[in-house]
Amino acid sequence: QQKTPLAGKNYLVTAGGTKEALDPVRFIGNRSSGKMGYALAQALVEAGAQVTLISTVDLKAPWGVKVVTVQTAHEMEFALEQRFDQSDGLVMAAAVADFRAAQVATQKIKKNNGQGLELQLTQNPDLIAHFGAKKGHQKVIAFAAETNDLITHAQAKLKKKNADLLIANDVSKSDRGFGVDQNQVTLIEPGQPNVDLPLLSKIETARAIVKRIIQLTAREN
Ligand code: PMT
Repeated sequence: QQKTPLAGKNYLVTAGGTKEALDPVRFIGNRSSGKMGYALAQALVEAGAQVTLISTVDLKAPWGVKVVTVQTAHEMEFALEQRFDQSDGLVMAAAVADFRAAQVATQKIKKNNGQGLELQLTQNPDLIAHFGAKKGHQKVIAFAAETNDLITHAQAKLKKKNADLLIANDVSKSDRGFGVDQNQVTLIEPGQPNVDLPLLSKIETARAIVKRIIQLTAREN
């Protein structure tokens, strides 16, 4: 068996939670640490791929990986737009905020004698759905982070995002998913039986996902 089955392939991986500014000092964020995305970047490099990580966090990058740092969903979209056509695949492990402030205050928002504060939010673009719709030869791998009805929601996302592979991630338990070093996922692929992976370290989870990406890639040849 070939040791570097993804040699010559260029992969984009996103990692971390986007940070959507409210004012110069505050943002809307989420609990994503970026660990899953960085583990995927490492597993792809081990399989011989060239990897560019579009990341919102400052973790130590795996050897050989190019990192592009972004903050917001819009910046992530721009970074992906510049690179997607020349890539062979996109793995969307980032937790992209679905909403951002309709208007970002130019000065720090002040307290207002207990009157409360209403924030007007506007929807961010669905990045993976956009790239899933425009993909040519690229493999598009999406995640679904769910706290309930995991497989039902994940199946819907597989379709909506026109993904080749969807990683259903149960994020309802504290020992897996956001922030920690372990994860437990189900791999969902159109026309194939679902594969439940056990609770594993994130690098082992990433290697199992990349094994599946290698199979997808081999099928096209
Ligand atoms: O970063 P860690 O702490 O290691 O945690 C890992 C993780 C739990 C964040 C990761 O494994 C994971 O599940 N990532 C996806 C998080 C997410 O945003 O899921 P979602 O179900 O809300 O979104 C579905 C898919 O659409 C995802 O691939 C997401 O990147 C993408 N998306 C979502 C919203 C949006 N506006 N644009 C998108 O592209």
